[in-house]
Amino acid sequence: MKLLKRLTETDAPSGREGEIRNIIKAEAQKLGYEVSEDALGSIIAHRPGKGRKVMLDAHLDEIGIIATYIDDNGFIRFGAVGGLYIKELHKRRVRFENGTIGVIGAEEKSFDEKAEISKLYVDIGARSKREAEKLVKPGDTAVFDGSFRKQGSTIISKALDNRAGCYVLLKAMEQIKKSGNDLYFVFSSQEEVGLRGAKTAAFGIMPDYAIAVDVTDTGDTPSCEVMEVKLGGGAAIKVMDNSVMCDINVVRVLRKLAETGKIPHQTEIMADGGTDAGAIALTGSGVRAGGISIPVRYIHSPSELANTEDIKACVKLVKMACEYNW
Ligand code: CO
Ligand code: ZN
Repeated sequence: MKLLKRLTETDAPSGREGEIRNIIKAEAQKLGYEVSEDALGSIIAHRPGKGRKVMLDAHLDEIGIIATYIDDNGFIRFGAVGGLYIKELHKRRVRFENGTIGVIGAEEKSFDEKAEISKLYVDIGARSKREAEKLVKPGDTAVFDGSFRKQGSTIISKALDNRAGCYVLLKAMEQIKKSGNDLYFVFSSQEEVGLRGAKTAAFGIMPDYAIAVDVTDTGDTPSCEVMEVKLGGGAAIKVMDNSVMCDINVVRVLRKLAETGKIPHQTEIMADGGTDAGAIALTGSGVRAGGISIPVRYIHSPSELANTEDIKACVKLVKMACEYNW
């Protein structure tokens, strides 16, 4: 899990994925893959084959914030990079690209009435606009400060969405034995701001089949929304989310592979949120797409929580999907 730790500790909000891109590029090259990059910043690792074009996808980016304005007292106003839970941001730590740490503060009275991002600011301890601008300028991005912790089979970290998915792809790439497929592993940019990188990457490849690997919510915490997915329940095979109706044959194949491989698996229907599968499915004249998801609690927070057994199950299922004769 050293690699997963390293991936989560890298800061890369949407559009600022340079650092994580370099790490993943190097890992893929170490495994002997031909690696290229497209204009939006997605990494594409190719393993040529004579069979069907199969695209495996995991997004590189993580949610964050972007400084929009600094007031005379040095408080930094910001916008969202991706789907933030505004109500939960108050008093959280963020880290800017140059390492500057800030705390998110709120205009307390008005924030209690109406939790809007415009009522929040980042406090870096500066006493004036000039002092603040030495460290942070409008346009600079930041991510949550949330260190990686492992206790037994539990992992708690920022950015498990979706470095856990990147990890799954890299591990599967390492373990594939025989495959007749023409395999493309895409580490896509800008998912959190609207499934953007996967779209251009899929257009460049035009695969016959695609599988997006990402995280999914769970329905197993006290009095949460009901949902089939449980932490520790294995690889979640996506049927639907609000961006995609998965190709039913892809769903059937993944279930069959999980059964023959004795891989713990479960069914995912995610009511809220989309995945790259949706963007890929709508590329060109359409792509048969599905998804394999890693159960994660507290998604889009500095303390996302996952289970290593689920991650292992996903690695095995992705590997089998790569080897399957599509
Ligand atoms: Co996300
Ligand atoms: Zn994600």
